[in-house]
Amino acid sequence: MSTPEPYKIKTVESIYQSSISERQKWIKDASYNLFNLKSQQVFIDLLTDSGTGAMSDKQWSAMMSADESYAGSRSHTLLGKAVKDLFGFPYFLPTHQGRAAENVLFSALVSEGNLVPGNTHFDTTKGHIEFRKAKAIDCTIDEAFDTHHQHPFKGNIDLKKLETVLASNPKGEIPFIIVTITCNSAGGQPVSMENMRSVRKLADQYNIPILIDSARFAENAYYIKTREDGYREKDIREIIGEMYAMADMMTLSAKKDGLVNIGGLIACRDETVYRSASTFNIMFEGFISYGGLAGRDMSALAQGLYEVTEFPYLESRIKQVAYLGENLLKLGIPIQEPVGGHAVFLNALEFLPNVPREEFPAQTLAIELYMESGIRGVEIGTLMADRDPVSRENRYPALEMVRLALPRRTYTNNHMDFVIEAVKRVWTRRENISRGYRITREAPILRHFTIELEPVE
Ligand code: F0G
Repeated sequence: MSTPEPYKIKTVESIYQSSISERQKWIKDASYNLFNLKSQQVFIDLLTDSGTGAMSDKQWSAMMSADESYAGSRSHTLLGKAVKDLFGFPYFLPTHQGRAAENVLFSALVSEGNLVPGNTHFDTTKGHIEFRKAKAIDCTIDEAFDTHHQHPFKGNIDLKKLETVLASNPKGEIPFIIVTITCNSAGGQPVSMENMRSVRKLADQYNIPILIDSARFAENAYYIKTREDGYREKDIREIIGEMYAMADMMTLSAKKDGLVNIGGLIACRDETVYRSASTFNIMFEGFISYGGLAGRDMSALAQGLYEVTEFPYLESRIKQVAYLGENLLKLGIPIQEPVGGHAVFLNALEFLPNVPREEFPAQTLAIELYMESGIRGVEIGTLMADRDPVSRENRYPALEMVRLALPRRTYTNNHMDFVIEAVKRVWTRRENISRGYRITREAPILRHFTIELEPVE
């Protein structure tokens, strides 16, 4: 039986299907950076699943009954209750989004020379670590970097790699271990409960706290329920409780599994961490009871956190992503396997083998797909990996991918069929694509957002 969406549509938004010649002009004007396109120039927007989903009628109602008091608002209390119910943390601070949570918490905990091991850190997370002259060390299992290798939990941390880092730390230079669930940069791949338990054991042995980067925590819980022995009968909320019982703190970009368009938070068990982070929250975000959010944002988030843990929602969500991925696989198109939770990742090195690495094959593929169809994906490859902070050389990551991220509750499977057809058309003419792009302008950090490019002739 297929899994239909457990909701019906109440509001719709028109989208414009442009012509190839319009798109060729627009992408040139955008300096071949898909972030520079106007949304009207995009037909199906798979740039990100972050802040792009549809809210429910209950969330909109929660916004109307929210409390906009500066201090001690009802909305803040509601959000605190959801955080305590789902994650079990007694302390929390709202922030305006995930990277703001990183900025605030890392200001309190990360300093120059620190090492921060984890499974492939998200780019802003890594950015916030490196900005403080500390080092993010990727301890993801090797299987994650072989896109055809079948492994149910490719987001797992390699315990040997982790222990090597922990053992190299006689002077207390490791403020925490980061577990990113699901692991976005490795392809939206989940982390198993068993792996988290082993990481907890090592963390205890070396007396180091664990931080969960929680953007897609409910999607991770879905995979534990459906793929890990012993969890099939457990409720999603029980699984979430068990995952977070192993953590000391969390950062959350609420724009994904919070089911809201803006928002984030920090939560923790330790009062000292909370007090120290509170000072930075007041400086960077706003008072501790709103942290850069309106009361209505906090109320919508409190409601979204409960909705995202409902199994029928999660099942239709994950199955839509799988529908896209599995239909591409049937055509022989190389993607990260198994299909991840929030996105399908095209393996650009296999898709466009004729484009040299120095000419950014993943960016080239993302541009080709846009010109073909008006679909916007995003490069997760060399442009995003940035330059080495010391040598300033390009870093060539193990995976060079184009991510097609699906906004939550937004597109139907008819849209997915269009995406499948468009990718197929680029795949059919892949042999003719042999030149990529060169950089004409770039920022010193997080360059991919604003980079400017031109085609290599
Ligand atoms: N951590 C992870 C795992 C993320 O995927 C993101 C954002 C963040 C932290 C930062 O959160 O955007 O609210 O500041 N990922 C988005 C994406 C941008 O497109 O994958 P933010």
